[in-house]
Amino acid sequence: MCGIVGYVGGRPALDVVVDGLARLEYRGYDSAGVAVLADGRLATAKRAGKLVNLREALAEEPPPAGTLGMGHTRWATHGPPNDRNAHPHTDCTGTVAVIHNGIIENFAELRAELEDGGHKLKSDTDTEAVAHLLENELAAVDGNAQGGLAEAMRRVCRRLQGAFTLVAVHTGDADLVVGARRNSPLVVGVGQGENFLASDVAAFIEHTRDAIELGQDQVVELRSGGVTVTDFEGRPADVKEYHVDWDVSAAEKGGYDYFMLKEIAEQPRAVADTLLGRIGADGRLHLDEMRISDRELREVDKIIIVACGTSYHAGLIAKYAIEHWAGLPCEVELASEFRYRDSILSPTTLVIAISQSGETMDALMAVRHAREQKAKLLGICNVNGSTLPRECDGVLYTHAGPEIAVASTKAFLTQLVAVYLIALYLAQVRGTKWGDEVFAMVQLLERMPEKVDKVLETMEPVRELARSLADERCVLFLGRHVGFPVALEGALKLKELAYMHAEGFAAGELKHGPIALIEQGLPVVVVVPPRARDVLHDKIVSNIQEIRARGARTIVIAEEGDESVQPYADTLISVPAVPTLLQPLVTTVPLQVFACELATAKGHDVDQPRNLAKSVTVE
Ligand code: F6R
Repeated sequence: MCGIVGYVGGRPALDVVVDGLARLEYRGYDSAGVAVLADGRLATAKRAGKLVNLREALAEEPPPAGTLGMGHTRWATHGPPNDRNAHPHTDCTGTVAVIHNGIIENFAELRAELEDGGHKLKSDTDTEAVAHLLENELAAVDGNAQGGLAEAMRRVCRRLQGAFTLVAVHTGDADLVVGARRNSPLVVGVGQGENFLASDVAAFIEHTRDAIELGQDQVVELRSGGVTVTDFEGRPADVKEYHVDWDVSAAEKGGYDYFMLKEIAEQPRAVADTLLGRIGADGRLHLDEMRISDRELREVDKIIIVACGTSYHAGLIAKYAIEHWAGLPCEVELASEFRYRDSILSPTTLVIAISQSGETMDALMAVRHAREQKAKLLGICNVNGSTLPRECDGVLYTHAGPEIAVASTKAFLTQLVAVYLIALYLAQVRGTKWGDEVFAMVQLLERMPEKVDKVLETMEPVRELARSLADERCVLFLGRHVGFPVALEGALKLKELAYMHAEGFAAGELKHGPIALIEQGLPVVVVVPPRARDVLHDKIVSNIQEIRARGARTIVIAEEGDESVQPYADTLISVPAVPTLLQPLVTTVPLQVFACELATAKGHDVDQPRNLAKSVTVE
């Protein structure tokens, strides 16, 4: 939520910053703005709406060229998304500019104090208060002295409550960008004679793949010749350097119209990469990287999964896999609800937090809550260097590569792979009764990239169907067992991309209320389990008949060769036959394609759906 870029070095800062913002726009697109320091003066430009509006403004009135600058794309929290509330914000003197991601919870009280002290604030944002607080502190610490801005920032941060990434520049030091972070992401890109700050490495990946993770409550001084990190008290801080293992091509569209299309197409590779190196030649799983020992895993007597949105749906599927293969009780909680409940946790509870970004505030808060209750913590995350893996005892990375489209696709499939690996690994170390099945599943997992590829090859009829439904007002999704979370995921994708009413239901629940929604012609997508699951399969075939008898237009996703559903399917989408628990890997893909195509047919930008942002760093 909100994208931040800072730069100091030898190139024209405006180009570096605007290009960086283009790669971060998925984090928020309510407004965009930049500040450049040139000839001892700060020039700012900002515009409501997408980055294109700012680009037009910059083309009409280019700011003076400078080699230090910063930029921001906003997802609005305080104040409507207009030019006035766009970042950067400046102080009364116009010598300090600030950009911010997060929410400053005590801003009302700080604002009142500043106004009492004679400051005139121009926007409705919480951010602007920081610019004015910096103005006061710069006066107190001699702002023009070397590092004066960093000391002022530390003093200000000690007064702030809430979550924030802040980046500031000051006319008093033409070679200094200062960043600070608490509970919001910020990484440093280390170059030769130039350095970068950003919410995400994607912003600077075309210039450097060497990065530094910033810890909680740290302030960074970024100069063209080096980087210094301290805590909020000014004590030198330990930092972790790392090398980003993907390059700029991964953060570009590569010939696709949308990132989402590219990311859907990348799924076979993403699944294969997430399996890579984790299955030994002996067919056994090797997850030593997880940093939780086999002994600790054997002691686990309960699992709680916490996650949000699509990642939560991966968690719901994990429950079926863990309970079946590992024989452990497993609960799945929306991370935003978890910490407000009196869940029963102990040191033998394993809490698994699933988060693509590793920065979702609800997930981080759930992790901290579980930590307080002394549970063991395992993260499933796609972003190296993000906060969640650092706050967990162990982590299993998904290797989806950067996911730029706001709606999650390839990250979801790799989360499924990760939860299968964990469930099967738990079964392996705990020696459950499913030894042979576990062995067979591990072999089958290795064949899943090829199965997903096969699904992708047969998607043209799904795209046609989606276009034909572009004028519908509502679509329902039904499933049983793991098909139920898949139905929820199908509905979520359609809601967020096509802005349509879409609901997912457990097919068995239909008769307890939702069946009243069925009316003539209503499109209902039904995810059918494999025929091998006799009871489940037959029950859902009955459900299809029930809704069809009431006029529904049935769109049935079933395994190849399942002729029993044919008479009741207005449209049949066939997917490769795989065991029930692995079926979400193939049944989800048509639903992603369906939502993406339908939204495109309605003329929507599927990479940047309205009101949303990737990486939700506020609660
Ligand atoms: C939906 C989507 C969101 C995210 C959710 C959690 O397509 O992408 O629902 O899944 O915001 O995000 P992460 O996984 O980054 O914690």
